[in-house]
Amino acid sequence: MQAVLDYLKRNQTRFVAELCEYLRFPSVSAQPLHRKDMRACAGWLVNHARQIGLEARLFATAGHPIVVAKTPAFASLRRGKPLPHFMVYGHYDVQPPEPLELWKSPPFAPRIAGRSIFARGSTDNKGQNLAHFKAVEAYLKAGTPLPCDLTFVIEGEEEVGSANLAKFLKAQRAALRCDAVVVSDTGMPSPKHPALTYSLRGIIAFEITVHGPSHDLHSGVFGVAVENPAMALARLLAQLRDARGRVAIPGFYDDVAPLSAYERKQFARLPIRDRDLQKLLGVNKLFGERGFTPTEQRSARPTFEINGLTSGYQGQGSKTIVPAWARAKITCRLVPNQRPAKIRELVCRHIEKICPPTVRLEIEAGHGAEAYLVSPASPRARAALRALKAAFGCPPVLMREGGSIPIVNDFKKILGADSLLLGLGLPDDNAHSPNEKFNLDCFAKGQAMSAHLWRELSEV
Ligand code: BES
Ligand code: MN
Repeated sequence: MQAVLDYLKRNQTRFVAELCEYLRFPSVSAQPLHRKDMRACAGWLVNHARQIGLEARLFATAGHPIVVAKTPAFASLRRGKPLPHFMVYGHYDVQPPEPLELWKSPPFAPRIAGRSIFARGSTDNKGQNLAHFKAVEAYLKAGTPLPCDLTFVIEGEEEVGSANLAKFLKAQRAALRCDAVVVSDTGMPSPKHPALTYSLRGIIAFEITVHGPSHDLHSGVFGVAVENPAMALARLLAQLRDARGRVAIPGFYDDVAPLSAYERKQFARLPIRDRDLQKLLGVNKLFGERGFTPTEQRSARPTFEINGLTSGYQGQGSKTIVPAWARAKITCRLVPNQRPAKIRELVCRHIEKICPPTVRLEIEAGHGAEAYLVSPASPRARAALRALKAAFGCPPVLMREGGSIPIVNDFKKILGADSLLLGLGLPDDNAHSPNEKFNLDCFAKGQAMSAHLWRELSEV
């Protein structure tokens, strides 16, 4: 193990240069304009994996390609007995970088300042998945035998709902059968608090369009004699949550698994203070459902959020119209026990019920996924905690995260494997926001964590 750790230490400068190369690809999965960049980024990853001694190839899908890289097949056979097999999952696609004017340096021109590297995709998720490649490189190049077989699956559609990955998992089920999946695509409260995440929220996405007159109208000539769709949508949306953010849709909370006293106590111990959160997020006051702390709200309560809202004239100056339509992009986060199909049905029926007859409603369904919850006390979870402690030098915490990684449910259903969520992101990393960054200490310690992890996991 020492040879592996020494190798990592000696090569940090090169690793950071390689991370910069990876970050230069504008691999924005949501924007068709970047199709070629997606392919180029996946190609870079395949080459990189080959250089460090893995067997790698690209798999085309109906969308963006999937990169698969394995430790050399003979490693396991050479020693005569089958080794445990673990999968590392990550994604090379990134969120759109807009609004560009808010970036202090261009999103795809990585910039290092202090111990941070700024670029879109740095924390979510290129820096985190590259850390695992570097750990494996260290084993292979330092000549230390890996105690397990590893397969990396790095996809290009995580940020748009992973529509083609489940099909791939089914087709490759035999080759991908594994003892557990390791995912570094979540966060930790601080560099002194490495974390094992044992739950993620689920999600349903949809768009509501309210149609009014057949075309934009003169608001002086026709206003108020016809319903204004923007006004109708605003009134409709305003009825879906109460003043404290509790969702006002009948039945929405029926299946929500209650939090145990034990979990609430654990949440309360996390080093996240309301005042710090307030400052980090730039708000005067936190908001939210009565009876739950911000940590509980962010990780274990379901939500209804408007992600985008559009209607009427958006250009400079004024324009006196009654717009023809208004639209909202919505996602609800779900918690364990809530079924996406059932919640979608409840939400849609309720919106239809309260929509006034003066406008026409159209609801378009988007992606959906269940929440994820595993035991943080399983032998493999405990092995992961040991690896975190060894690499970070501080006792790890257990967390539930509010974000979603839809595919982890399919790892369980299709491959029968639990996911160990060992995130390297920090709360101020600005994932999905301008000036996204990744901490280079998290990068280095993440590599060491990965190095320890393979040994710890293989001894379970
Ligand atoms: N890395 C995030 C998920 C995440 C972030 C989990 C923080 C826990 C804490 C991932 O890349 C992501 O953003 N997922 C999307 C999924 C959606 C598009 C289906 C999300 O959560 O919005
Ligand atoms: Mn993301």
